Amino acid sequence: MKATAVACANQGLIKYWGKTDEALRVPSNPSISVCLAALTTRTTVEFSDRLEHDELTLDHRSSTDPRVFQHLDRIRELARSSQRARVVSENGFPPGVGFASSASGFAALTVAGAAAAGLDLTPSALSRLARLGSGSASRSVPGGFAELLAEDDTRSIAVRLAGPDDLDFRTLAVGVAETEKKVPSSAGMRITTRTSPFFPARLEYLVPALERMRAALRARNPVEVARLAEVDTLNMHATMLTSDPPLVYWSGATLEVIRAVLDARASGIAVYFSVDAGENVFVNGRASDVAAARERLRAVRGVSSLVESAPGGPARLDPQPLF
Ligand code: DP6
Repeated sequence: MKATAVACANQGLIKYWGKTDEALRVPSNPSISVCLAALTTRTTVEFSDRLEHDELTLDHRSSTDPRVFQHLDRIRELARSSQRARVVSENGFPPGVGFASSASGFAALTVAGAAAAGLDLTPSALSRLARLGSGSASRSVPGGFAELLAEDDTRSIAVRLAGPDDLDFRTLAVGVAETEKKVPSSAGMRITTRTSPFFPARLEYLVPALERMRAALRARNPVEVARLAEVDTLNMHATMLTSDPPLVYWSGATLEVIRAVLDARASGIAVYFSVDAGENVFVNGRASDVAAARERLRAVRGVSSLVESAPGGPARLDPQPLF
């Protein structure tokens, strides 16, 4: 059977950085994100008796990414199947540069793979399965503004806090990197949780920070959501910078964009920055403020791409296959 799914990338607003169980990807803290409608992955999966081994094509290139093959094994186990799979996946944006292609990638793979294997999973079960592939992917399953709970394996699922159209919220994805990030998230999280003296302090700060973000979403307050994401960015990067070895994800261009955001704010435009584990910067705010800041950001040295995005919807099956 063959199935195709489309999923959005997402941006951590209250970030996920640390696991209590690495094998099962159980997060150390609840996290909240917004899906990005303009950054999507489309994936087609076919399980067939005719295939002798799993085949993966990612952005028109053959790939042997073991995390994808492990994920296919999880799907086969649930479906009690031994059929091999053909997977073709295409990103609408450069992978591995801090725009979280693993989130959209594993969300699309989960939804397409489960359908292609004949599984009829609940949204919660799909979100959990996506989390086993990549923690942030669980939040792309419900879409909109979602919270990934930090419980045990079965209860660490993402739930929706607000729909994509509930807030006047826009994100400018400002690309400054052209290459893969140096330390992948999984390795970086391990280093931070084991070595940063600030990590326990982050866990304490997160309790009220999460509550403030949930309240801002309930109040449908886009400027407060954007502001709290900036506060959390600096908090998470403080734990990265104080890790041993230090994790410095930012480049000079990252800082140039951050300064341009602060300058825009000083001139009355309510935009806020947010950075995940990479060099690229998200700039958040109301649609009118993001539009007002756009040309200034385009002019910053080192900026190679600008993609404006509204909040995106859930990962979904789609009739348009890639093969
Ligand atoms: C910095 O989901 O990529 O973007 O579970 O190890 O695959 P793994 O990590 P991943 O982590 C992303 C972390 C982040 C913050 C966030 O998205 O909340």
